Amino acid sequence: MHQAYGGVVPELASRDHIRRVLPLTEQVLADAGRSLKDVDVVAFTRGPGLAGALLVGAGAACSLAAALGKPVVGVHHLEGHLLSPFLSADPPEFAFVALLVSGGHTQLMRVDRVGSYELLGETIDDAAGEAFDKSAKLLGLPYPGGPHLARLAQGGDAQAFKLPRPLLHSGDLDFSFSGLKTAVLTQAKKLGAVISEKDKADLAASTQAAIVEVLVKKSMQALDQTGLTRLVVAGGVGANMLLREQLNAACSRRGIRVHYPELHLCTDNGAMIALAAGMRLQAGMEAPNTAYLFDVKPRWPLGMLGA
Ligand code: KG4
Ligand code: ZN
Repeated sequence: MHQAYGGVVPELASRDHIRRVLPLTEQVLADAGRSLKDVDVVAFTRGPGLAGALLVGAGAACSLAAALGKPVVGVHHLEGHLLSPFLSADPPEFAFVALLVSGGHTQLMRVDRVGSYELLGETIDDAAGEAFDKSAKLLGLPYPGGPHLARLAQGGDAQAFKLPRPLLHSGDLDFSFSGLKTAVLTQAKKLGAVISEKDKADLAASTQAAIVEVLVKKSMQALDQTGLTRLVVAGGVGANMLLREQLNAACSRRGIRVHYPELHLCTDNGAMIALAAGMRLQAGMEAPNTAYLFDVKPRWPLGMLGA
């Protein structure tokens, strides 16, 4: 639905969510062999994100919880991503450095326990996923372009094009990806109106290598700076295989344990939101809310969750 526009159209998204939320809830329960009677708590994404889409989820969750007479918990979207590796066969232990790389965020955080998130650095412009998506669009790939660009890159030469590594040596833990997109555009223009398949693959490989190199370097810097010996990678870009290979290599050289969510739990999903709600309840950080009054937080810095 969004592909025709090259990006998410907020109003189309929330209208589609209204149509899908109840049938999808029924289908998920049926697939899991469960019924609403088995539900103890209803969790929903309270923010950050598109207000319309958040309101659909919050409204459906609070109505459902009220009808069931069960409490409701509003969860921070990024906390869901951050805790998603706890659903894997090899879950991490606290404390760790988290590299959060999604379509909207690129952040390095220090995580000491559930609810304790200290921002170490973040992007000053585009997110890593956005850099993938925008470069993919320049190469004529469909949206969201990250996985398409990664696939195209497999047959390409990552050394073929010289692309910038923004803020690689800035000394801090911030990122910048908008210059990279401009550099990809400049290269694509130089190649002319019709770009050969080989040049496309080479440019894709060079772009991916530039993004991954910066992510790996800054993650290692964050581990050095904090003295922590565990790294957790979360968010859609965490599904990128080159990123995983290079992080694994860099971490094994330093004796660092690195944890990823299961591949299908890297991109947005409901399981991570349910898990985050469960972990917050277990940690005593959520008073059961049975008032069913709700608000959403389209802008919500994770550091403000507090301890
Ligand atoms: O976490 P996510 O599902 O949604 C947000 O919260 O933003 O992340 C989506 C982002 C998109 O930019 C998508 O292109 C990127 O993750 N992505 C990838 C890969 N799979 C998803 N980027 C590079 N390589 C991949 N394999
Ligand atoms: Zn996400």
